[in-house]
Amino acid sequence: MLRRLHKEQPASFEFTPANLAWAKGQISKYPAGRQASAVIPLLWRAQEQEGWLSRPAIEYVADMLGLAYIRALEVATFYFMFQLQPVGSVAHVQICGTTSCMICGAEELIAVCKELIADKAHQVSADGKFSWEEVECMGACANAPMAQIGKDYYEDLTPAKLRELIGRFSNGEVPVPGPQNGRYAAEPLSGLTSLKEYEAGRKPYNASVQNAVDIGDTVKRIDGTEVPLTTPWLGKAVTADPKTAAMPEAAVAEAGSRPAALAAARDGAADNLQELEGIGPALAKLCHELGIFHFDQIAAWGPAEIAWMDGNLKGFRGRVSRDKWVAQAKIIVEAGLEEFRRRAKTNDY
Ligand code: FES
Repeated sequence: MLRRLHKEQPASFEFTPANLAWAKGQISKYPAGRQASAVIPLLWRAQEQEGWLSRPAIEYVADMLGLAYIRALEVATFYFMFQLQPVGSVAHVQICGTTSCMICGAEELIAVCKELIADKAHQVSADGKFSWEEVECMGACANAPMAQIGKDYYEDLTPAKLRELIGRFSNGEVPVPGPQNGRYAAEPLSGLTSLKEYEAGRKPYNASVQNAVDIGDTVKRIDGTEVPLTTPWLGKAVTADPKTAAMPEAAVAEAGSRPAALAAARDGAADNLQELEGIGPALAKLCHELGIFHFDQIAAWGPAEIAWMDGNLKGFRGRVSRDKWVAQAKIIVEAGLEEFRRRAKTNDY
């Protein structure tokens, strides 16, 4: 495939202050004179920030590393993972078209992309939200056919399921990644035949999906403020420019009303908040610090409480509304945990 720079290029590129700090931390990993080794992480970060790699972005990275432009261009044009043309503002959909996925229906998935997104790969949809391409095996063959949407895998797809996913992304939702047919991981469709003793106490999602849900950046552009930027090899943390990071934080944190908090869990036994989609260990700990220990507390929140929690979950802002904590908690309170787990498999809440 011919890989050329896109014919329309922006005038300039700059890392966000936080991404710039992150990039400097990456460069510091390498010994003097070997900074060019950071070219792939820096190009990747530029792509994560913008969605694609423009010529100004490639040249910006080359300048940071003291490289001739052609050296950075060689890297960017060689690897298919670098997008050399604009992608959809919401998501770039990568359909695996290799053997297992092709046998199991990849061509029908591509037909859905052609119909809903654009007739040709690497074209942005009319509404600007999506783009798509066919890619080689992504190593999830046991869950064929599959697609990578944004950063995560959506597996065991059907044309109808892919339509639904694209529709939900279009509406601002971020559907839970992983198997989309109720399978837990890559076990037989008819259910486990061995290791059944681990089935009862397992979490709602397999480890990869849980990790994706916990990180929650499936289709988010990475501006550098979402993860702690640390450079332990320098003996210190790299932080975002406090001037740019502090202001929105303060404004958002004041919105809404703080929900009723408990000093401690009732009877000393907190509910396992990690049952809710989107809550991992770090968020559960944060909830406890804010006096939230039980599903019925969450189920009682209205718009004002949701706004306050969304603005005060440091490092996880917006998760309460994005992951529908209140709707999830209401199901547990009203119908019980077993019913919730059954419905959670298909995001039925
Ligand atoms: S063939 Fe599609 S993931 Fe391997």
